Amino acid sequence: MAVLVTGGAGYIGSVTVEALLESGHEIVVLDNLSRGHRDALNPQIIFYKGDIGDRQLVRMIAREHQLDACIHFAAFAYVGESVVSPQLYFENNVEQGVALLGTLAESGVRCVIFSSSCATYGEPLVLPLDEKHPQNPTNPYGWSKLMLERVLEAYERAGMLRFVALRYFNAAGATPKHGERHTPETHLIPNVLAAAEGLLPSVSVFGHDYPTADGTAIRDYIHVSDLANAHLLALDYLIDGGSSEFINLGNGRGYSVLEVIETARAVTGRPISIRNEEARPGDPSQLVAGAEKARRILGWRPSRAELATIIGSAWEWREQHRHLIDQPLK
Ligand SMILES: NC(=O)c1ccc[n+]([C@@H]2O[C@H](COP(=O)([O-])OP(=O)(O)OC[C@H]3O[C@@H](n4cnc5c(N)ncnc54)[C@H](O)[C@@H]3O)[C@@H](O)[C@H]2O)c1
Repeated sequence: MAVLVTGGAGYIGSVTVEALLESGHEIVVLDNLSRGHRDALNPQIIFYKGDIGDRQLVRMIAREHQLDACIHFAAFAYVGESVVSPQLYFENNVEQGVALLGTLAESGVRCVIFSSSCATYGEPLVLPLDEKHPQNPTNPYGWSKLMLERVLEAYERAGMLRFVALRYFNAAGATPKHGERHTPETHLIPNVLAAAEGLLPSVSVFGHDYPTADGTAIRDYIHVSDLANAHLLALDYLIDGGSSEFINLGNGRGYSVLEVIETARAVTGRPISIRNEEARPGDPSQLVAGAEKARRILGWRPSRAELATIIGSAWEWREQHRHLIDQPLK
């Protein structure tokens, strides 16, 4: 089974590539390294540095490697950046994403797993958010993901491919080899840990008058290796002839920003100072997954659902990989 992994040099992509390798699939990675790291990939992996929107390159890869499937991670993924610079998101995630899907379809690649997001739901009307919840994104990043969901659906209806669109909630944690290193880092857990390490003077808490028990935003954190495992299951599901599906990936349990910080204090044994900041535009108050469908359709069972386990794995990875962590002081 030959699988193209776009964005395989990124955080979730590199963990999934490792898991795919262990399961014996032939892997080809396409990444332009705009936000990923070449050293996050096993040097033996077949790697193409390039854009997903480069039709000629994707056509050549599909032909050369007789691709059966694609796991499409490559995208820009910062909500705040998408609000300030929507063009980046529509060009990179949508325009290039549409080019990729069209090229895969015309090249005969019949199975696609797509990294969608809980950001496609927008402000929740009811919680937990199941897959039937209306989708009304509050930021261009969420729209960019929703647009690609619609494109996939159209190709599916035309009989050109089948897909599983996985709507991740908040990916977090690390494996012994791979952890989160984005520049700039906007995700909560790495920033909380950078504050615990003294690399940041404090951690910014965006918004403290949300309608939640402690006033801070609530998110559903999912361990990156549980996420990776769901991709393997989705791949088997599609290869076995499964029909196209939209599936949430979360643990069904939400934690507030202050709960995350408190847990990180306990895990690291270090003090972590807080700086209160205004809520960020486009940031919903609560995002918690209805996670039953992933269990029912894919047989997915998260094995690292505890917040302390998730944070602990990220902390261990940071301790082992200090040389890789590029955290600017602010
Ligand atoms: N991290 C999360 O919590 C989360 C939540 C929901 C959805 N997602 C989605 O999961 C996917 C992976 O997220 P991540 O956190 O690993 O992000 P990441 O930034 O670490 O990885 C994305 C990778 O895609 C590459 N890339 C981006 N645009 C490209 C292009 N046009 N051509 C080729 N390569 C390109 C980058 O270089 C990077 O290696 C993204 O699609 C993201 O939107 C992430």
